[in-house]
Amino acid sequence: MNADPLRILVVADVAERHLSMIREAAPQAQIEQTVDRGRVVRQAEKADVIVGWNVPREAVQQAKHLRWIHSTAAGVDQLLHPEVVQRDIIVTDSSGIHAEPITEHVLAVMLAFARRLPVATRNQMTHRWDRASVIGEELWGKTVGILGLGSIGREVAARCQAFGMRVIGTKRTPAAVPHVDQVLPPDGLDEVLRAADYLVIILPLTEQTRGLIGARELGLMKPTAYLINVARGAIVQEAALIAALRTGRLRGAGLDVFEREPLPQDSPLWEMEQVILTPHVSGAVPDYYDRALPLFCENLRRFLTGAPLLNMVDKRQGY
Ligand code: OXD
Repeated sequence: MNADPLRILVVADVAERHLSMIREAAPQAQIEQTVDRGRVVRQAEKADVIVGWNVPREAVQQAKHLRWIHSTAAGVDQLLHPEVVQRDIIVTDSSGIHAEPITEHVLAVMLAFARRLPVATRNQMTHRWDRASVIGEELWGKTVGILGLGSIGREVAARCQAFGMRVIGTKRTPAAVPHVDQVLPPDGLDEVLRAADYLVIILPLTEQTRGLIGARELGLMKPTAYLINVARGAIVQEAALIAALRTGRLRGAGLDVFEREPLPQDSPLWEMEQVILTPHVSGAVPDYYDRALPLFCENLRRFLTGAPLLNMVDKRQGY
C-alpha cells in the first residue's frame, strides 16, 4: 500500500462528531470536508476516498487517485458517472439504513389517502364540517404491490401485512420473501399493476427501470389505485402520470421523488388535490449521519486492512 496518508474527502454536511468518528477509524488519514461544488472538484484531485450523497462528474474526472466512493444514500445513480463505472473505483452504498423511515413514510401516505386526511385538512382550513367527503376506507383487505423487495420493500411488506393487506411484489431474483404473499419476477409487472390498490415503487434507477411506468402501465392499473414513488422520479414517466391523474385514470399519487428536483415551480403536480407531494425526504431523519457514518467507518476499517467491504455496488447493474 502507498506510504502516503489516505486522503478522504467528505462531501456531506456532517458534524464535527462525525469527522471524529472517521478520524478514530483511520487515525493516519487526511480528512477534508466540504459541500461547496468548486472546492469539491479541487479537493477531489488528491482524494483516495470520497464519501457523500452526490459526487459531481467533474470531481471524479479530477480525482486521478480515487479508489473508493462510499455513498451516504441508498441509490447510487447520481454518482455512477461513466468514469466511475469504467475506472477501477469501488463503490459502496448505504442500503439498509432507510428501511424504517421510508416504510413509515409509505404507510403514512397510504393511510392519509385511505382515511382522506388531505380532504379533512382542506375542510379544516375553511371550517367545513362535511362528513361525506371524509369518510374513508381501510387498508385492511386491500392489495399492495411492491416493486422492489430489497431491505426497504421487505419492511414495507411486513408492516402492510400487519395492517391486514395482501402483499404482492416483484424481485429481480424471485424467491419466497417473508410477509409477501406472492413474489413475481420483473416480467410479472403487469400482474402486479392490475392487482394493486396501492403500488409502491422502491426500485433502483437503472437502464432497466428508467421510464418503466408509462401510459401503458398506468393504463393497466385500477382507476381506484394509488401510486407511491419513494425511489427515483425517472422510473415513472411524469407526463404520463400527470395525464392519468388529470383524467381520473388513477385515483392519486404519493410522490417523494420527481424527474427534476427541486420540482419546477410550474409543475401541475403542485396544484393537484389527489397528490401528496414531499420534497425527497422519505429516507431522511434528523440524525441521518449518525446512522450513515458508522457504516462508512466500518468499511473504512475494512478498506485499511484489505478486508471485503460491506454493501458493494455492482456498477454494471447500477445498484
Ligand atoms: C437514497 C435517497 O437513495 O434518499 O438514499 O434517495
